[in-house]
Amino acid sequence: PVVAVVLAGGTGSRLYPASRSHRPKQFLPLAGEGKESLLERTVSRAREVADEVVVVTRESYADGVAERVPDAAVLVEPAGRDTGPALLYATHRISRRHDDCVVLALPSDHLVGEGFAPAVRRGAAVAASEERLVTFGVEPTRPETGYGYVEPAESATDADWMPVESFHEKPDAETARAYVEAGHYWNAGLFAWRPRVFLDAAASSPLAPLLDALDDAASESVAEDGERSASGAQSGPNDPAVAAAFESAEPVSVDNAVFERADDVAVVPVSFPWDDVGSWDALERVLDADGDGNVTAGDVTLRTLDAGDNVVAADDRHVSLVGVSDLAVVAWDDRVLVVPKERAQDVKSLVRSLESRG
Ligand code: GDD
Ligand code: MG
Repeated sequence: PVVAVVLAGGTGSRLYPASRSHRPKQFLPLAGEGKESLLERTVSRAREVADEVVVVTRESYADGVAERVPDAAVLVEPAGRDTGPALLYATHRISRRHDDCVVLALPSDHLVGEGFAPAVRRGAAVAASEERLVTFGVEPTRPETGYGYVEPAESATDADWMPVESFHEKPDAETARAYVEAGHYWNAGLFAWRPRVFLDAAASSPLAPLLDALDDAASESVAEDGERSASGAQSGPNDPAVAAAFESAEPVSVDNAVFERADDVAVVPVSFPWDDVGSWDALERVLDADGDGNVTAGDVTLRTLDAGDNVVAADDRHVSLVGVSDLAVVAWDDRVLVVPKERAQDVKSLVRSLESRG
């Protein structure tokens, strides 16, 4: 079977102030038809390819997740420590129920077009037959600095997948141009693995202490129950040793913790339309512009005078722009953000400094 693990514990801070700690990016509708959130659309996509869907998230988002996708199982991680610990936690749990399955890890905050299901099935099949960690690679269309890049091995020939030489996370603009030139892929943040393959790789990674805590808790609960229950009921966030191990762990992404270090990683090239919509400038790629190149998202009435190529997003606002171009102008709740589109990645640093000042 294929078990989809949907990652829904991040904030998406570059989309501040629409995304806030209490209203993460994956809860927003953002773009496209209807008012469905990115999370709802992700879970529908996951159902096309998986036999089971589990959404892993932090405690404070659990109710919001259950409200939006009432039919999905929700797994609450003991503490939010980025995607490495979250995926270890989910994979460990799943491995105790079916060791022979393929785990498909899906971000909940992407816009994805036609062709997703067959491509992802292909990758899951590679993870199963080759017993490798699989990442999915999108052919770059620009030197994006907001993504990670995957460098295939030079000897790569196989049509379905290639061995990975190395990963390069979020480069500067000049390096990104070199990667595009060299034929590297964008790391789609989408992964597949057999539980055993992932757990073995985690054992020699920064996730090892967490893995030990999970193994200990599991063997204790097996001893107590006599046998594992079919429902997979296990010691979870309420296991004090596991909770303590998560609390004291450093945040680390799965890319950093596992994929960058592992030897046997495969990249499966995919060609469906894909966008992380990670920052405000991304909206002009996924929305239709007016005659002056302005795009709007949310609930905006826009009036302009000599203003073009701007991104305007708001929750129910009348916005006017005069004589400005290439800006993102965002008004949500009682907050306003104005940033040149070319500095949209820097909103992450802004949010960090807002948080530290309270
Ligand atoms: N459960 C859980 N817990 N989920 C998390 C956590 C966490 O602590 N942190 C992040 N997530 C979720 C986010 O909600 C998102 O759906 C997904 O994991 C990816 O996290 P991001 O924080 O959005 O990662 P990124 O976009 O900066 O970078 C990753 O994705 C890019 C493609 O979108 C990397 O894999 C890049 O290499 C890749 O290009
Ligand atoms: Mg992302």
